[in-house]
Amino acid sequence: MRTSASRVIPPVLGLLLTGASWASDGRQVYLARCVGCHGGDARGTGKAPGLAANPHLAGLSAEQLRGVIQRGSPATGMPSFDLPSSDMDALVTYVLTLNPSTRPPAKTALEGKRISWGKPQPGDWLTYNGKLSANRYSELRQIDTANVSALKLKWIFPVPSFGLEVTPLASDGVMYTTGPNQVYAIDASTGELLWKYARPQTKGLDGDASLGTNRGVAIREDKVFFVTDNAHLLALDRATGRLVWETPMAENEHDTKQHYGGTLAPLVVNDTVIVGVAGADEGIRGFIACFFADSGKLKWRHWTVPHKGEPGFETWTAGEPEMGGGSSWLTGSYDAEANTLYWPTGNPFPDDEDHSRPGDNLYSDCILALDPNTGALKWHYQFTPHDVRDRDATEPPVLVDAVFHGKPRKLLLHADRNGFFYVLDRTNGELLLAKPFLRRVDWATGIGPDGRPWVKDPEGCPDDAANWSSTAYSPATGLYYFLALEECDGSPLSYPDQPGQRYLRALNIQTGDIAWDVPQPGPAKAKTWSGVLATAGGLIFYGKPLGGFDAVDERTGKTLWHFPTNVRMKASPMTFLLDGKQYVAVVAGPNLLCFGL
Ligand code: HEC
Repeated sequence: MRTSASRVIPPVLGLLLTGASWASDGRQVYLARCVGCHGGDARGTGKAPGLAANPHLAGLSAEQLRGVIQRGSPATGMPSFDLPSSDMDALVTYVLTLNPSTRPPAKTALEGKRISWGKPQPGDWLTYNGKLSANRYSELRQIDTANVSALKLKWIFPVPSFGLEVTPLASDGVMYTTGPNQVYAIDASTGELLWKYARPQTKGLDGDASLGTNRGVAIREDKVFFVTDNAHLLALDRATGRLVWETPMAENEHDTKQHYGGTLAPLVVNDTVIVGVAGADEGIRGFIACFFADSGKLKWRHWTVPHKGEPGFETWTAGEPEMGGGSSWLTGSYDAEANTLYWPTGNPFPDDEDHSRPGDNLYSDCILALDPNTGALKWHYQFTPHDVRDRDATEPPVLVDAVFHGKPRKLLLHADRNGFFYVLDRTNGELLLAKPFLRRVDWATGIGPDGRPWVKDPEGCPDDAANWSSTAYSPATGLYYFLALEECDGSPLSYPDQPGQRYLRALNIQTGDIAWDVPQPGPAKAKTWSGVLATAGGLIFYGKPLGGFDAVDERTGKTLWHFPTNVRMKASPMTFLLDGKQYVAVVAGPNLLCFGL
C-alpha cells in the first residue's frame, strides 16, 4: 500500500534515471536553436537569461513552457519558434530537466490516497477490455437481472470533446479516461478530477487521428500509458499526470509519406507496452510495436506489410508495397499461458483502388499471432484476401476456453466486418467454424475448409457488418454478443428492400446461429458504434447507437433497464468494484456516466 509521495519518482528525475534518450535529443535541439543566446551551459549570456535553475520556469507545466517557446517575446528579444512537434516535445522535456531542484514537489489530489498499484484488486478494470483476453465478460454479479431496474446515475464527468470512443480504466478508486490528446484521472466515487494531462491537437493529420479519436490508456505500476494523435507513446506519472517519457512510435516519424496516427489504448504485457497505428485509409506501412514500460525504448517492431524477401511478400505480385496499409489500431488480446499476442489488422492501401496491388496483400485484414518477446509471427489468418471494400479485421479478437463440438478447446472468437463469424483454434490458427452472421452476405458464398473464402463478388455486401466496438462471450449461456449492421448500401448490389438495420445480436458459438437479437431504432446509416459488456449478473449492457444505455437479459435479449442518454453512443461499457459496490460506466457523447445501485 502506498501512503506517501516518497515512492513516486518525480518525472524529471525519472527521465534522468531511465536512460535520458529523450533529454539528449532535446539537448540537440537546444544546441541547434537556443545556445547562441541562452549559452552552452544554459546559464545565460549577455543576450538572454539562463534557462537552468531559473525560478521563472520552476512552476511551469510542460504545456506552459511550450507556449513560452512557441510565442516567444519578440519585443524583448526572444524569438517565436515553430518547431516540429517531436522536436518541441523533446526540447520542453530537456528544459524541464534543467530545473529539477526548483520544481515544486509533485502534489495532486491523488497523493496520500489509498493506492496499491501493482496489486490488482478484484473488481478493478485494469486494461482496455477489462481482461487481456479481450472478452468483456465480468465476474461481478451484484447488479443482476433482479435488481438492475434500480440502477441509478451516480455522477457525470464531462470532457470538452464530442463523440468520445474511450473505455475508462478503474483501479484503486481512480478512473482514467481520455479525450483528444487529453488524459484525466478521476475519483471513481464522485467523478471529481484528480489530475489532467493535455496538449493541443496536432495540426495537419489525416483520418481518425485528426478527429482526436482516442480509446483510452493502459496502466502499470506507477505509470499511465497514452498514445497521442500523432502516434507518440507517452508514459505519465500515475500520481500526478506529469510526463515521464515520450517516444515516437514510427521508425522515422519525419517520413511525410506515411500518415501514421494514434487512436488506440495501449496494451501492457509483462514489462512492456504494445501499440499499433492508424492511417491505412490515407497510406501507411502498418506495424505493431513493443516498448519497455520503464524507459520507452523499443523492444521490437512487427511490420504488418512485409518487406522484399520476407514471408508474405509473394502476395504482392506487382512489387514491394511501400504503403501497403494494414493498420493495427485496435488493442489486441494476450494469452499468458501460451505467451501469445493476438492482433487484428486493417485494410490494404489504397482500399478501393486495387490495380496497383494484385495478390492477397498479406498481412492486411488478418489476425496475427505474435511472440510477445520478439514480435515473431507464430501464425496468421486472413479473413478477406485482396480486400476491395475496406473490410478491416479490426474487430476484437476474443480468447475463450470452452467445450467446442464436444471437446475442450482454446478458441478465438471474431465477428468480422466482412459479415462472417469465425471460431479459430488459437493455438495454431485452424478454422473451426465460419458462418455469416447477417441474413444477407453476397461477397462470398462461404469459407472453405482451407480457410479461404469462396468469393462470388469481391465488391458484394455487406458494407460494415461489424466494427471495433467491444464484444463478449458469456460462459453461462455459450453465446457471443455484439452489435451487427445489416446493410448493403453504396454497393452495386444495393437492395432497395433493405434500407439497413442495426442489431444487438447473440450467436451460438457452436453453430454461428442467431439465438436472439434486438433491432436498434433509427437509420443504420449513422455510422456510430457502441459495444457490449456481459456480466455474471446475467446481463448484457450496451450502448444504443443512436442514444441510450440499456441492460438486457443475456438469455433472451429482453430489455430490463434503459437510461436515455439522448446522444450518439460511440464507446463501449465497463464495470468495476469500489468499496465493495459494483458500478457500470460508459461514455456517451462528451460525458463519462457512472451508474450504481
Ligand atoms: C536571439 C536570442 C534568443 C534565442 C535564439 C532564444 N532565446 Fe529564449 N530568450 C531570449 C531573451 C532575450 C529572453 C528574455 C525575454 C524577456 O525577458 O522577456 C528569452 C527568454 C526565454 C525564456 C523565458 C525565460 C524566463 O526567465 O522567463 C525561455 C523559456 C526561453 N527563452 C527559451 C528559449 C529556447 C528553448 C530557445 C531555443 C528554441 C530560445 N529561448 C532561443 C532570447 C533568445
